[in-house]
Amino acid sequence: MKFEISKTGCDPASIPDDGNRFLIGNGYMGVRGTLEEFTKKELAAVNLAGIYDQADDGWREPLNAPNPFYTVVSVNGGALRVQDFPPAEHEQRLDFRYGLASRKTVWNLAKGRLTLRAERFASMDNSHLLGLKITLCANADMRVKLEAGIDADVWDIHGPHYSSVKFGEKDGVLICEAAVQSGGTVAVSRNFSLPPDEFMRGTAIYLPELKAGVEFSLSSVCAVYTSKDLQNPAEAAQKSCAGSYENLLKASKARWDEIWDCSLVEIEGDEEAELAMNYSLYHLNCVAPRGGGAVSIAARGLSGQTYKGAVFWDSEIFMLDYFLASQPEIARSLLRYRIETLPGALKKAASYGWEGAFYAWESQEGGFDACSDYNITDVFTERPVRTYFKDKQAHISAAVVWGIMRYIERTGDLSLLKEGGARVIAECARFYKSLLVMPNARKRWEIHDVVGPDEYHERVNNNAYTNRMALFVFDALEKISEILQEDEKLERECGIAALLEEIRPLRENFYMPKPGESGLIEQFDGYFSLEDASLAEARSRLKDPREYWGGSHGVAGDTQIIKQADVATMLAMFPQDYPEEILRRNWEFYEPRTEHGSSLSACMYALLACRFGNAEAAYPFFMKSACAELRGGGKQWAGLVYIGGTHPAAAGGAWKVLAQGFAGLEYSDGKPSLRPCPPRHWKRLRLRFIHEGQIMLADITPGKAELKSK
Ligand code: BGC
Repeated sequence: MKFEISKTGCDPASIPDDGNRFLIGNGYMGVRGTLEEFTKKELAAVNLAGIYDQADDGWREPLNAPNPFYTVVSVNGGALRVQDFPPAEHEQRLDFRYGLASRKTVWNLAKGRLTLRAERFASMDNSHLLGLKITLCANADMRVKLEAGIDADVWDIHGPHYSSVKFGEKDGVLICEAAVQSGGTVAVSRNFSLPPDEFMRGTAIYLPELKAGVEFSLSSVCAVYTSKDLQNPAEAAQKSCAGSYENLLKASKARWDEIWDCSLVEIEGDEEAELAMNYSLYHLNCVAPRGGGAVSIAARGLSGQTYKGAVFWDSEIFMLDYFLASQPEIARSLLRYRIETLPGALKKAASYGWEGAFYAWESQEGGFDACSDYNITDVFTERPVRTYFKDKQAHISAAVVWGIMRYIERTGDLSLLKEGGARVIAECARFYKSLLVMPNARKRWEIHDVVGPDEYHERVNNNAYTNRMALFVFDALEKISEILQEDEKLERECGIAALLEEIRPLRENFYMPKPGESGLIEQFDGYFSLEDASLAEARSRLKDPREYWGGSHGVAGDTQIIKQADVATMLAMFPQDYPEEILRRNWEFYEPRTEHGSSLSACMYALLACRFGNAEAAYPFFMKSACAELRGGGKQWAGLVYIGGTHPAAAGGAWKVLAQGFAGLEYSDGKPSLRPCPPRHWKRLRLRFIHEGQIMLADITPGKAELKSK
């Protein structure tokens, strides 16, 4: 089985994508897959999870720590940076079984050939630690200079976030303490396997005399702590990087072995899909919080500050299922994050005059909604454009409830309900109840003025997805009221019985858009009357490729072109609502009208195609999701806003297609079963997942599906 990706040559245009592809991470931090000599110009970053700062009036975004991998080699005063001094050979690799990224670069110099090798990883065993090993070898004797330091001039989108930076050195360890504008400290340290010739402000300097064919190796263990972790991050960073690179790597590999034990996907007959799927799981594991706290995953993982490092519905609807199936404690952290951020959601709802909990669309620490009212910058005027993502994407609260219910169903662990989950569900139900309106002419309850998953059409009425999710929340309230029957105290605290009394009659008369004669479900009121322009037509109307398609001036606004799966998402999530024929007709109608302008879109079309038994139609969309990083080329701009980075939701979505679609993993009364629908060219699919603490193996070959414990 192949666990490696690689590339040769260095092309400046691919630096941003390579930074994502070769990323290493451990949930606490992500280190972009840039080269050791790269700086902020090449988007080098050590992105930290769950710690944010706002500089002046800029957007509040997560912090990038000073970069402890910064290393430059020079010969005769000339720095060997690939961007300035093109090498004769260059390759980058990632062994994603063990999260070990490496590079080999060869320069032809006047005196001979110099080869630089570097290898790096983020420890899965101790999430504060990183390892880096540099090896130099020349084919002729030569003196080189190696500067190994901590680069505190970090890449920021809306920075700078550090008001001052202090460098020090203690017992051979370099320490950098950066004071965050809004308070607190980020401390980074780097140790060295060899004593340097000299320490100079944040840098260890080596002047080795290389002998032809003899390797010079230097390894470092680096640590990162912040004042969110403990009181004295600098001391912790200094002390914890004492160990050796080799021991750290060994312990980290052992953790990766455990992860693959319950995650590995084997696909006979399709190496490309097998690699893409496992590589997607690698990325999910790089960003998964492992500290047992209340932490979730940002939409762009730990690949930088794009999307403000905020948590979206991506976590519950797209990523959660993989964690539930492999490491339920991580799923629990994601949901505890929502429980802890309930106060922010209550405040947000109240600020709009709604009841209950309206979760942040772009959630940061404490549930702060980082989504700005003007979230896009117009390409032509460079003016901010009013968007309604934050105010109107009401389906976010239902995603939180979906996640909690999923957790309970899969794990049978009710403690989450008692630890605040029940309250979250009740407050979300209260929110949807308060959204209901009854227009005079129609004697039914409806939901108006929302934005559905398709963000291109704003402020619409009766978005089918949103209405269906509201129903789901009302039903979840019924379910937890049954579950909590014995816990009168909790039931009373959340006011569930009284709330249900209010909701039941409303639910009876709630409007859920249904398939018309053609079998099609209208995405929102009036959608079918919009211009039926083709994607090509809409695209030809663009005056600038970076132009925003949505909103009142966008090329999609007055047409049936949608940004991403919307009705399709609803049908993929609730396939039991309709016969397969309805699922198929809606797929066939909506897919050609979908721009797939979000990496969340393809997996839902793939899953839906499996739901009506068409694995061949699903396959290209599955591959698109699973290859979001490998193929690159995703949207990098929304108007003038940079939105590049990794795509953990696409990775999680690909896993959903594989498990729930191709393998057809279903649960009834808590028991798993298979209803396989694999692509024709797959000879065998073996999928692992956790059930009641046991690792299970789904083994699917043509005409045969077996489920056993591993
Ligand atoms: C999509 C959202 C998604 C967000 C973060 C946006 O482009 O429209 O559905 O949650 O990106 O991935």
